[in-house]
Amino acid sequence: MHHGRLQRPPLLAPRPEATATPADVPGPLRSRRVLPLPALPLAALALAALALAACAEDDALPEEPPTLPIPDHFPAPRIPASNPWTPERAELGRGLFHDTRLSGNGTQSCASCHHQERGFTDDLPRAVGSTGELHPRRSMALANVAWARTLNWANPLVTTLEEQALIPIFGDHPVELGMAGRERELLDRLRAEPWYRERFAAAFPDDDDPFTVANLVRALAAFQRTLISADSPVDRFLYQGDFDAISPAARRGMELFFSERLECFHCHGGFNFSDSVDHDGQAFGGAAFHVNALYNIDGQGGYPAPNTGVHEVTGRDEDMGRFKAPSLRNVAVRAPYMHDGSVPTLDDVIDHYAAGGRTVPDGPNAGIGADNPNRSLFVPGFLLSDDEREDLLAFLHALTDDAFLTDPRHARPEDLPPFDGTAP
Ligand code: HEC
Ligand code: HEC
Repeated sequence: MHHGRLQRPPLLAPRPEATATPADVPGPLRSRRVLPLPALPLAALALAALALAACAEDDALPEEPPTLPIPDHFPAPRIPASNPWTPERAELGRGLFHDTRLSGNGTQSCASCHHQERGFTDDLPRAVGSTGELHPRRSMALANVAWARTLNWANPLVTTLEEQALIPIFGDHPVELGMAGRERELLDRLRAEPWYRERFAAAFPDDDDPFTVANLVRALAAFQRTLISADSPVDRFLYQGDFDAISPAARRGMELFFSERLECFHCHGGFNFSDSVDHDGQAFGGAAFHVNALYNIDGQGGYPAPNTGVHEVTGRDEDMGRFKAPSLRNVAVRAPYMHDGSVPTLDDVIDHYAAGGRTVPDGPNAGIGADNPNRSLFVPGFLLSDDEREDLLAFLHALTDDAFLTDPRHARPEDLPPFDGTAP
C-alpha cells in the first residue's frame, strides 16, 4: 500500500502530547508546585521552556519578525540564515523579477521567460535569451521553488535561489540576461531609479550602501519564495476535506497516479508532486535525479549533448540522462514538456511512460528509450485503456491552481517605472 503518499506531510502529523497529567504527579509535590526536574517528562519541559522563551521575547520585542506565509499543509522551507525573509525584500524582488533593467540590452527580465499565467515557464521548447541565443534547455516552472532541493534541470551544485539567480543575470554560456562583466552598470541603473532607492533601503536597512549584487539576488530569492501554489482542486480534495473539489474521473486518475502500475508517485509524489524537495527538519537525503528514458542514442543510455543531465556537470558515466523530476503543479498550462521541450502534449507524456521510454525513430537522436540500460525501475511501461488515460489527464488538469496563475501579488508592481534604456 502506498497510499501513505497521500498523507499530509510531517508538519501536520499530530504533535506528540505531553504525557504528564496532574494525576501523575505525587500529591505533596503537586501542592508545592515546585517539581523536581527529573519527575517532569521531557516533552513537558520542552513546552515550558518554549513558553518561557516566548514570554521573554514578548517582553523584549513586542512584535514577532514577519515570516514567509506558508500553507498549513506544507512543511516549513529551509531559508538561508544569510537572507532572512522579509516582506520588504520580497517586494523589492518582485520589481527586479519583472524589470528589463536586469538585461544588458534592456529587452528581457526574468518574467520574459517565466510567465505567471503559464506557471512561470513559457511556451517555447527551449528558452531564448536577450541577445537571441538559444538556451539548450527549456525555461522551468517556478511554483514552490522555496522547497526545491536543487535548482535547474540537472545541477546538483545549485542549491539556493540566491546562487541560481546569478546564472541568468551574469551567465554567458548561454547568454540569458547578458549582464556578464557589467555589475556596476546594473547597480547604477537601479540606483538611478527612485523606486529602487526607497525599496533597497527598506529591504536592507542595516547596509550603508544596499546596492550590491548580493542584495539583488537576496531580494530575487525572497520574492521567488512567495511563489507558492497550494490551492489546486487536488489540494482542496486532499487537504481541505472538499470531496467534490475534483471530478470522479480525476479521483480515479489520482488512484492510477499513485498506483504500483503507473509508478508516477515515486518521483512526482509528496506535497509538491516532486521528490526533489527540501524542507526544515528533513534529514539530508542526497539529491534526487532520475533517468526517465527520453533518449537512448547509442544503445547504452546516451543522451544528446549538451543535455546529458547530471553527467554534464559531473562527467560521471552513471549520471548520464539523470534529470530532476519537475513538480507537476500547474502542469496542464506548461506545454511543451521535458528539459528540451521535445514532448508536445500531456497525451504524448503519457505515451512516453506507457512505452517505458520514448522511441525516436530516426535522425541523430534515434534510439529506443525502453531499452535504455540506465532507465529507472519505476519507468517499466504499462497498458492503459482509453478511459484510464482520460482519468489520468483529468487528475493532471486538477493540479492547476488558478488563484496562483492570476494572483496580482506575483505580477509586475504597477508603480514600477518602465526602463527607457537610456539610464546610466
Ligand atoms: C532566457 C530565458 C530565461 C531568463 C531571462 C531567466 N530564466 Fe530562469 N530558467 C530558464 C531556463 C532555461 C532554466 C533551466 C536552466 C537549466 O537547467 O540549465 C531556468 C531555471 C530557473 C530556475 C530553476 C527552477 C527549478 O525548479 O529548478 C529558477 C529559480 C529561475 N530560472 C529563476 C530565474 C530568475 C530569478 C531570473 C531573472 C534573474 C531568470 N530565471 C531569468 C530561462 C530563463
Ligand atoms: C523514475 C522517476 C519518474 C517516474 C516514475 C515518473 N517521472 Fe515524470 N519525470 C521524471 C523526470 C526525471 C522528468 C524530467 C525528464 C527530462 O526533462 O528529461 C519527468 C518529467 C515529467 C513531466 C514533464 C514535466 C515538465 O515540466 O516538463 C510530466 C508531465 C511527467 N513527468 C509526468 C509523469 C507521469 C504522469 C508519470 C507516471 C506515468 C511519471 N511522470 C513518472 C521522473 C519520473
